[in-house]
Amino acid sequence: MMNKHEQLLRLLLDSEGSDISGEDISRQLNISRTAVWKHVNKLRKLGYEIDASPRLGYRLSRRPEWLQQEELAAAIDTRRFGQELRVLMTTASTQQVAMELAESGMAEGLTVLAEEQTGGRGRFGRKWFSPPGKGIWMSIILRPQQPLQYTSQLTLLTGVAVCRAIRQCTGVQAEIKWPNDLLVNGRKLCGILLESAVEDQRLRYCIAGIGIDVNMETDDYPEELKKLATSLRLESGKVINRTELIAAILSELESLYDLYAEQGFTPIASLWEALSASIGRRIRSVIRGETVEGTAMGLDTSGALLLRLDDGQVVPVFSGEIELKP
Ligand code: BTN
Repeated sequence: MMNKHEQLLRLLLDSEGSDISGEDISRQLNISRTAVWKHVNKLRKLGYEIDASPRLGYRLSRRPEWLQQEELAAAIDTRRFGQELRVLMTTASTQQVAMELAESGMAEGLTVLAEEQTGGRGRFGRKWFSPPGKGIWMSIILRPQQPLQYTSQLTLLTGVAVCRAIRQCTGVQAEIKWPNDLLVNGRKLCGILLESAVEDQRLRYCIAGIGIDVNMETDDYPEELKKLATSLRLESGKVINRTELIAAILSELESLYDLYAEQGFTPIASLWEALSASIGRRIRSVIRGETVEGTAMGLDTSGALLLRLDDGQVVPVFSGEIELKP
């Protein structure tokens, strides 16, 4: 069921390049002229250029480069991941949509993409800036078989998959900050959020949420993010094809997930360490309420980051955040 602004878009697309009067639209959509204007503005926010003239009505003069389901399906060469796709124009959070689909019994690999998220979520209850058409906002249903305590390994695995796909597709040398932020020159390019549904100490499913700043320019960022975040476009100087990158991520993710199922965490940990911005660096973290500082040594078998403190003691950091010291 299309909502009103999607119906309006359909009308404008059907008469692309010619005018359609406000009166016609209001009659066909069964809404007031004021509501037409409101939906036109909604589409403009999504990147559509719509000319408006009181005499002639509305005309779609340019459409943004939206993800097309058919193009994506043609580019994705996996067996499971992304074979079932939902491509949405706008949603509160793809995590929420994927979770509902997982609850309704949809299979592992189902992937939800949105052009825009109005309530994108990050780790620790933070908001995730997800403007229309400029990023990759995607969530994938995973139904892993391993015991609950290894869920954090999947977070690291997802970071490795995305980092490898970005390097291969764009040449941007992203690095992983433990556990799975992707950085370039100290600025955040991508965040990963793994949310799990657990019952009786058993993992029912996980939703792997991936947010990548792809084609943002500096002016697209709100002031508070300008110095902290970066995009693939800003780093490479090129407009990046999101379809190719999504296909590469799904392909890497499926291969690493299969490798993990066959051989366990050891090969994933080695790949993670090779892409890490944390290993060998001075790190500050908080362990059980106490701030500690030391040198990151590598991962332990569970995926925790091992920190050598200044007194020589080696301690694992299991959760939370780390700060990379200069
Ligand atoms: C972080 O805090 O670094 C994690 C950010 C994760 C953002 C992605 S965008 C797609 C998916 N949907 C959400 O609401 N969040 C994740």
